[in-house]
Amino acid sequence: MMGSAGAFYAAHALCVLLSVVCVLLVAHWNSSYREGFAWDGTAKQFNWHPVLMVVGLVVLYGNAAVVYRVPLTWRASKRPWKLLHAGLLLLALFFSVLGLCAVFDFHNANRIPNLYSLHSWVGILTVGLFAAQWVVGAGTFLLPCSPLTVRTLVKPAHVWLGGAILVLSVVSCISGINEKLFFVLKSSTNGTKPYPQLPPEAVLANSLGVVIIAFALVVLKILSHKSWQRPEPRNEDEGYRQVSVDES
Ligand code: HEM
Repeated sequence: MMGSAGAFYAAHALCVLLSVVCVLLVAHWNSSYREGFAWDGTAKQFNWHPVLMVVGLVVLYGNAAVVYRVPLTWRASKRPWKLLHAGLLLLALFFSVLGLCAVFDFHNANRIPNLYSLHSWVGILTVGLFAAQWVVGAGTFLLPCSPLTVRTLVKPAHVWLGGAILVLSVVSCISGINEKLFFVLKSSTNGTKPYPQLPPEAVLANSLGVVIIAFALVVLKILSHKSWQRPEPRNEDEGYRQVSVDES
């Protein structure tokens, strides 16, 4: 059990480290190579899009997903951790919607059509599923009046869809990063080498993609590990210790 907890904390530390690297890489890419940020309809406004999507739908989302796996939280009531899980995910949803506003507004200001690319189709599906999952999850697991039978029925679907949304989010990020690099690293006219010559910006953005994939793999590993799952007491709002006492 201790060995299992130690392995969990090692995986969790890796998860936090990769989160920090993701945020630093996406922020550095857009501030140092893509002229920084503004909300003025220019490319500077677009730059909020990757940053907000990575912070919201990858980093906050992934960290919110593993909250219940932290063994330290098992002895206390589940209620505060549910609120933390739902709160972090609401923040993630807020960043994602703001990230979509940045790109839709940028497209409209520059008369670029909306929702034409494969990236945008997968992306809008991801955010739509995430919003639906949050509403159904809050209605099922946070509302005190929701019956236990409904919670038991919905939970497996909620867990499966939670992992699926993270995978879709990674697919959205990889396709978006790739598309952006093809758009901006076309020729040497704007002072950069083209993509096939692997300029520093391409190395940075490719690395961001690889780190996002590594982060998601660690999160999915944590979620799928049976002995890292919170032991469920009879009354799910009670702590694990309470159940052990009851049963002894
Ligand atoms: C979970 C992450 C992401 C989601 C859900 C997402 C979603 C979307 C959506 C729905 C659009 C269409 C906007 C419109 O039609 O007006 C879009 C556009 C765009 N996104 Fe993302 N995005 C994500 C991450 C990224 C990342 C990390 C990049 C990297 C730079 C990126 C690059 C782009 C580009 C270049 C466009 C404009 C071209 C197009 O419409 O395909 N996206 N994104």
